[in-house]
Amino acid sequence: MNQPFSLKPLQKTFGVVVTDLDVRKLDDEAFDALYAVWLEHALLIFPGQHLSNAEQRTFALRFGDLVRGLEAAEISNVHPDGRLRDQPDDDMMKIIRGNMHWHQDNTYMPLQAKGAVFSAKIVPREQGYTAFADMRAAYDALDEPTKQLIAGKAAHHSLAHSQAELGEETKKTGSEYTGYGLNVDDIPLRPLVKIHPETGRKSLAAGRHAYGVPGLSPGESERLIAELNAASVEDPARVYQHSWSAGDVVVWDNRCLMHKAMAWDYAEPRVMLHSRIAGDATSEAALKEPMSP
Ligand SMILES: [Fe+2]
Repeated sequence: MNQPFSLKPLQKTFGVVVTDLDVRKLDDEAFDALYAVWLEHALLIFPGQHLSNAEQRTFALRFGDLVRGLEAAEISNVHPDGRLRDQPDDDMMKIIRGNMHWHQDNTYMPLQAKGAVFSAKIVPREQGYTAFADMRAAYDALDEPTKQLIAGKAAHHSLAHSQAELGEETKKTGSEYTGYGLNVDDIPLRPLVKIHPETGRKSLAAGRHAYGVPGLSPGESERLIAELNAASVEDPARVYQHSWSAGDVVVWDNRCLMHKAMAWDYAEPRVMLHSRIAGDATSEAALKEPMSP
């Protein structure tokens, strides 16, 4: 297929910089080629696109349905009235700080997200990176006993639990962060090994929201998940930190990458735009019952 764009893979196990295109102007054939590149590399990086909210939403919709309320959501340390959020007990900042720990989006919801389109509107002078980790390569790097140990195991995923673990509980009512993901009745249970619905590749699936492995004691669960999370990011070849310039757009595959925000000087504004792509109910739904051992 003719590729109407240029690709420069990162010197990593994943990720590719895509240039010589305008993501607003892709015909169907070009988009299909781009989608195939996304499945292979899991992270697309488009420098200098400068999308409006509506343009980003339109682009994101080409990857799938969007999560309601997160079609084009600003994630920032700026209040709607322009003041900076510099209070440690600000609920939005608690969520932002929580997301500075490795995770996959919406694993704590009934449906894990498929991916996200994420772009930078206003960036601080330094830092404020977003980091990504390749969970396909992380799984491949596990030794055989560990692969066998986790093959039939699952973990619960909860945002309320992970925020509490960090001492970052947010108010469930009466706050600006009104509880997206915090009031989930049935805590989802997800396999520790996820099979990608489109590529068939296995990836490690734990992250900060995971806890409570059925069949293990709380202490054993905690140790196992901590070990898996540490192993996920121990090799720099499987981790990439994106240093943002305003106008950059990335698209990550949330079915096989983890990501995290990184700190910056909160005296400076940082405004990002997030469009969350919904997972497929046949492949991203939580388990209906525990896995048989
Ligand atoms: Fe996230």
